[in-house]
Amino acid sequence: MTTFETYLDSLKGTLDDGLVALLGNIADATRRISDTLRTSSLSGLSGATDVVNVQGETQKPLDILSNDIMLDACKASAAVSFAVSEELDSEVPVHADGKYAVIFDPLDGSSNLDVNVTVGTIFSVVPATSSADLLQTGRSQIVAGFAAYGPQTCLVITTGKGVQIFTLDDSGTYVMTASDVKIVPETKEFAINAARRASWDDVVARYIEQSIDAGYNMRWVGSMVADAYRIFNRGGVFLYPADRHKPTSGGRLRLLYEGNPMGLLVEAAGGAAIVGDIGILDVKPTALHQRVPVIFGSRVEVNKIAGAYTAAKVAEPA
Ligand code: AHG
Ligand code: MN
Ligand code: MN
Repeated sequence: MTTFETYLDSLKGTLDDGLVALLGNIADATRRISDTLRTSSLSGLSGATDVVNVQGETQKPLDILSNDIMLDACKASAAVSFAVSEELDSEVPVHADGKYAVIFDPLDGSSNLDVNVTVGTIFSVVPATSSADLLQTGRSQIVAGFAAYGPQTCLVITTGKGVQIFTLDDSGTYVMTASDVKIVPETKEFAINAARRASWDDVVARYIEQSIDAGYNMRWVGSMVADAYRIFNRGGVFLYPADRHKPTSGGRLRLLYEGNPMGLLVEAAGGAAIVGDIGILDVKPTALHQRVPVIFGSRVEVNKIAGAYTAAKVAEPA
């Protein structure tokens, strides 16, 4: 049986000790968050605070607690130079001689917390010795992963070579349950918030219409990690488009701690992840909390959508 600890031991040849220690601390943080979530309504951690974060969203006690747990993991890791969080306005300097920045969404899918639906933690590790290093493309990521806190707690991670999945057992050990995961290249299932139909661009609107006409199925959880976990498991395509009425808004999802880590994971599993007709990992970030439209999943399907964006560009009046 391979555990996350024995998996980390196997990486000691390729990843430096500081990074291996950091990954162990991140895994511990997800265990702590998982434990906290399991009894949150019994410990008065439900509901919302009156604090609005940099996203303009009201923070939930578990957003703050998960953020603190992830920050503690960064501080306990000598290799960490900066921490960047969805819940914090700007980067947090951690260790002056650290080599890696940890960029994370401590609790993804917060709107699902009080209705007992799967949520998660998303993380990305990039080489960084100064703040300027934080705005690199997603291709600079060394590690990307997410924990999904659902009926099972699962950790999905890539260090660049393939995607491994670990499931938390009742002793608190992450046991490897899948290795070198591949996303099936074709699918007949899409994930999108259909209530926002009026804000979709023409490419997405046409794609969804054609998919429905072709008998595709739809699933939308409201937690990207839950939709992503399903896509790693049985294929599919996830879409969160920009709002056509607010083109500069970029959409809802954030590039650095949602789009990029998911993009590295999906590509490592043979899938594709795009922003319009370019790879999400090739988008040059301009701000820590920059939002982008996000489409990822089964490669053939996503490339079909990318092709439609390219064709739409060509058709645009000069
Ligand atoms: P977060 O809770 O970290 O803000 O992320 C929620 C995101 C993503 O997880 C999910 O797919 C999407 O928001 C749901 O958006 P809608 O509520 O607009 O459907
Ligand atoms: Mn999120
Ligand atoms: Mn979040």
